[in-house]
Amino acid sequence: MRWFQWLDNGRNREESLDGQGRVSFGAETMQPADKPARVRAHFDSVAGKYDLMNTLFSFGLHYRWKKRSVDLLRLEKGEAVLDVCGGTGDLSRLAVKALGGQGRVMVCDFTRSMLEVGRRKRAESAAGLIDWIQGDAESIPLRDQSVDALMIGFGIRNLTSPRQGAREMHRVLKPGGRLLCLEFSKPVNPVFCRLYDLYSLSVMPLMARLIAGSGLPYTRLAETIRLFPAAGELGRLFQEEGFRRLACLNLTNGIAAAHLVQKVDSG
Ligand SMILES: C[S@@+](CC[C@H](N)C(=O)[O-])C[C@H]1O[C@@H](n2cnc3c(N)ncnc32)[C@H](O)[C@@H]1O
Repeated sequence: MRWFQWLDNGRNREESLDGQGRVSFGAETMQPADKPARVRAHFDSVAGKYDLMNTLFSFGLHYRWKKRSVDLLRLEKGEAVLDVCGGTGDLSRLAVKALGGQGRVMVCDFTRSMLEVGRRKRAESAAGLIDWIQGDAESIPLRDQSVDALMIGFGIRNLTSPRQGAREMHRVLKPGGRLLCLEFSKPVNPVFCRLYDLYSLSVMPLMARLIAGSGLPYTRLAETIRLFPAAGELGRLFQEEGFRRLACLNLTNGIAAAHLVQKVDSG
């Protein structure tokens, strides 16, 4: 099966980065105009169980990855922070803590049900410390140069054009602003990589069928991860779109990677 293997073909990767021609959502391919609705329908179908499934499937590791990512961003009191593709707001809650409640944190996501789950989740949001905005990462509903720091967690690979997403994030960041992108990557160790393949392509969908009644959304998850470029290539994309690379942290042998980049010009 095409998607079972990690994509090591540069041309395919570049196509998936640029969103030209047909685009993919896991093993499915479609016209670019059809992808946002497909992605929204997917996240709508998993919203209610999204946090639980994440925690079960990653054995709670995703919280550690998110904490280390937000630490890497070194937020300062008073900063305005935007969490693009923020979903149920885990990164935003960590940002609220890091800011000590002084500053502004906004979640932007185009799936209403994910935002609603997030808004109901915990006290920080009830206290009005997070603004929940329904909007598209490829056309962010904020003014130019209006945020100090930006986070995108497990979101960029779902965009129709990650390059357009990078341009939009560049536009809304103030000059010198930092962007933290946390995304799945490819495990470094080949033996670990095989085990991870077995787990994510076979065990996870089976567990999902038993717990949530359908394995398909989690098969899609494993597919989208394999079709997305590894960490180095994502770093290059940010560089091409006007960011300077500051750090790249491999997490759990490279299952995920946290990229920290900085806007270099005043664009
Ligand atoms: C895998 S979830 C990640 C949620 C959260 N950042 C986290 O780390 O738990 C991806 C999120 O990206 C959102 N998303 C995908 N494409 C988007 C787009 N073009 N604009 C805004 N949100 C988008 C989905 O609705 C979903 O909530």
